[in-house]
Amino acid sequence: MSHEKTKGQQVATTKGQQVKKIKGLRVTVLQLDKTMQIEAYTGFSKKYKPVSEIVVKWLQLNFKGTRATIQRSGQRQSIVIEKMEPGDDLLALHSFPLSKKHLTIVTEGLIKDLKRNGFLQFLVHPRRRALSQKQQQKQAAVHEANQLVKKVKEGAVVREGATSTMEQVFEDTRRNKVALAEIEGTVEHIALHSLSDAMSVLAGLKKSDQTYGHCIDVGAIFQSAYSRILQRTKRPNVFRDEKQSLLSAFLHDVGKAKIPREILDSRTPFANDSKEMQIMRSHPVHGAKLLSKMDMSVHTIKMAHYHHVKVDTTIISSYPKEVSYADVPWETRLISIIDSYQALVGRRSYKKPWPPPATIRYLEAMIGMEYDEAVWLEFYQIMGPYPVGSVVKLNDGSLGFVMHVPDTEPDRPRVTVVRNAKGEDLTLHPLIDLQTERDVSIIADLDNEAVFGKKSLDVFTNLRIS
Ligand SMILES: [Fe+2]
Ligand SMILES: [Fe+2]
Repeated sequence: MSHEKTKGQQVATTKGQQVKKIKGLRVTVLQLDKTMQIEAYTGFSKKYKPVSEIVVKWLQLNFKGTRATIQRSGQRQSIVIEKMEPGDDLLALHSFPLSKKHLTIVTEGLIKDLKRNGFLQFLVHPRRRALSQKQQQKQAAVHEANQLVKKVKEGAVVREGATSTMEQVFEDTRRNKVALAEIEGTVEHIALHSLSDAMSVLAGLKKSDQTYGHCIDVGAIFQSAYSRILQRTKRPNVFRDEKQSLLSAFLHDVGKAKIPREILDSRTPFANDSKEMQIMRSHPVHGAKLLSKMDMSVHTIKMAHYHHVKVDTTIISSYPKEVSYADVPWETRLISIIDSYQALVGRRSYKKPWPPPATIRYLEAMIGMEYDEAVWLEFYQIMGPYPVGSVVKLNDGSLGFVMHVPDTEPDRPRVTVVRNAKGEDLTLHPLIDLQTERDVSIIADLDNEAVFGKKSLDVFTNLRIS
């Protein structure tokens, strides 16, 4: 049985004028199959010509909101089914509302119903194939990556403002005039617009200054990692809310406001046993005092007080000296790792910024001596060996940004390609999921400044991921 192709059937006229052409393939009820979607019902058994009162009521109940082409007093008309009257001849049912989609998508059940109710002929078109699960996942990943780009753009502006606000907090603290209202406003804004995750990416894309920008980046990375670790592990949140944890992380170095400017802003590193280094190492104690005076929570105070305490408290980089590692809370152990991560990734007057993957490898080597292994593993699970924003080289020679680190395989992230193997910059940036594309792999991680100069953030915020 072959299908008869029609260019369209004129199913609706008003006062003799043709008003609508419904296109489709004309088929009988016996030819319907599940690859089809019905555009219009066009052939009916005798009971619809003319319709009785009972049939009218039945149609109006079952086809509510659908349009009908009828013949009334020899005149063709297109009406909504609710206007149908006994005695009309039904010529077509079409323009189904969304709520009646189940009457148009062909299924075994629908075919049975149609036969039973005397619907004999239809105009159909091939049903658009539903996206496969893989395609749906790809679409969601592309959407998520584009959303991240948008958020990073938004976060970059907030970060600039937050950095000057932090500078103001330090300035006020130097003058013994503690005013947190403005930084609390920034915290509120970041929480309200869920910007922590995006702002944590900025640390690697545009390197911060060593004091104020450092505090903001540490805050964003802490908040992003902390909330994701809590979600994953169901650890209890020791802070009142997201605003309190973010503010606490922002203020971890507030004691530096009590360090003389010439030491704080020095362009040369001090010797480990110098007087200046000793003064610098007093900032956690100053911080704890300042925050106690502000009636901050015990966890906020401990984060400022103990963030330089190392697992091996005998090493010179561990201070204050009188603290035992057992007294350092989990949250402070986490910020200690993030503090070092940001310090290495960020710009310092005495060193070059490090790319995030190299920083991860460096910190990993310090586990057990400087950082708590269990806390490190939680942090690593979130960041992966190539934190989001890292520039990596794939095995086909192309370069891209890491966009997402999966929970299950942190070393097989999603990467968006920005430069092909020939060294040409792309205008559309395909997203490759290394978890599904098993033949693609990362063969190197690169210093984004070496690849894009100072433009890494611009390149990232102009990504068009497809
Ligand atoms: Fe510090
Ligand atoms: Fe710090």
